[in-house]
Amino acid sequence: MASVLVASNRGPVSYVLGEDGSLDTRRGGGGLVSGLSAVSSQDSVWVCAALGEGDREAVRRGVGEPGVRMLDIDPDVYADAYNGIANSVLWFLHHHLYDIPREPVYDAEFRRRWESYRAYNRAFAEALAGAADEGAAVLVQDYHLALVPGQLRELRPDLRIAHFTHTPWASPEYLRMLPDAVREELLWGMLGADELGFHTSAWAESFAAGADVAGTGTRVAVHPLGVDAEELRALAYRPAVDERLAELRAEVGDRKTIVRVDRTELSKNILRGLLAYRELLTARPEWRGRVVHLASAYPSRQDLEVYRSYTTSVAELAEEINAEFGTEDWTPVLVSVKDDFTRSLAAYRLADVALVNPVRDGMNLVAKEIPVVSEQGCALVLSREAGAYEELREDALTVNPFDVSETAEALHTALTMPHPERADRTKRLATASTALPPQRWFLNQLEALRGPA
Ligand code: F6P
Repeated sequence: MASVLVASNRGPVSYVLGEDGSLDTRRGGGGLVSGLSAVSSQDSVWVCAALGEGDREAVRRGVGEPGVRMLDIDPDVYADAYNGIANSVLWFLHHHLYDIPREPVYDAEFRRRWESYRAYNRAFAEALAGAADEGAAVLVQDYHLALVPGQLRELRPDLRIAHFTHTPWASPEYLRMLPDAVREELLWGMLGADELGFHTSAWAESFAAGADVAGTGTRVAVHPLGVDAEELRALAYRPAVDERLAELRAEVGDRKTIVRVDRTELSKNILRGLLAYRELLTARPEWRGRVVHLASAYPSRQDLEVYRSYTTSVAELAEEINAEFGTEDWTPVLVSVKDDFTRSLAAYRLADVALVNPVRDGMNLVAKEIPVVSEQGCALVLSREAGAYEELREDALTVNPFDVSETAEALHTALTMPHPERADRTKRLATASTALPPQRWFLNQLEALRGPA
């Protein structure tokens, strides 16, 4: 039994099943993992889903980490909930990604998947209800688990429940695209919480504008997650990263670098970023041969065709740009399409310019990480639709993410920014980025939850 419980789809560990039947443990990083380290593992339980065969086998064999409870949900129910609803419908809704011809389809198949989403949420609510001490604090994470607060409230009215949304929240007009009964159930689920947390006031206001919060007893709060400077620098200055940095330096030479790091996913706007780079090389030919774009693209949610084809398009457009402008001794875009955090950290250190141009993003921690580890200070080109914009706007070069020409021009301004100005801005960006590190972010929510109801 626990007095603090966290629930999220992806947990802090995962297991890989070897051909010889061995189970290899992989520990994840990220804000939540370091946030929860502020609480003793004896008092806490983290409930997460078994994501693949390795995780399911670990559950079957009773293998696990102390304080982590993995749920072995029926694979078909899980696929419907995670791929069919969370990453197809809710992700697109909250990031405003619906557009002709990518329109929502609310048919019988959708309704079947919605039932799976409800069942998958229910499995979490039951596991939490069974593991929580009287009056325990439960912190539920993200759009995968939007129904959990309402379901858990029915099972255990004694609990203090918070829900934190790591994505943006859809505007009321977007939210109204959902079938009415589904929208009402989604809001019912969320409003089961004592506190609803968002990264920015924009997303909190968006929620409040589309829901009837008054009289529900639910508080809407803003907790902008930041980065832990010490932990990040320790990671970024390991020997393995030094080696990758030496390799990248050898490839880049004395050219300037524009760095970006994203999961390959439509809201990140990687294609318009590449188009802006192409426009820079076209409109300002003086940059040809003098700059390299280092892009790290982590393939994400590849079970879904829309994410797979986006990943392919990113690689293809990078190749096109290289074919158009590349010379024997200069490759304009060095793109790495794999999950390689060591390479990303090396690129962070080398960055002259960081490009973060999502069409809509809950926070975007890359915008906060690069200023903290960049070696010579870097200019940040930042979308005004990223959550990080609220805190970083003054020292970033801000852009409309849909405007390719404006982004190209911002890249030029960033590349030509005088060094002292770049260094000053980077210092202020790093200070703002580390204002609310994960442990404090987590404890603030816990204190708010345990305070007077
Ligand atoms: O941005 C929302 C978010 O839940 C992040 O917190 C997380 O990095 C990502 O989406 C999860 O993606 P995945 O589908 O790979 O678990």
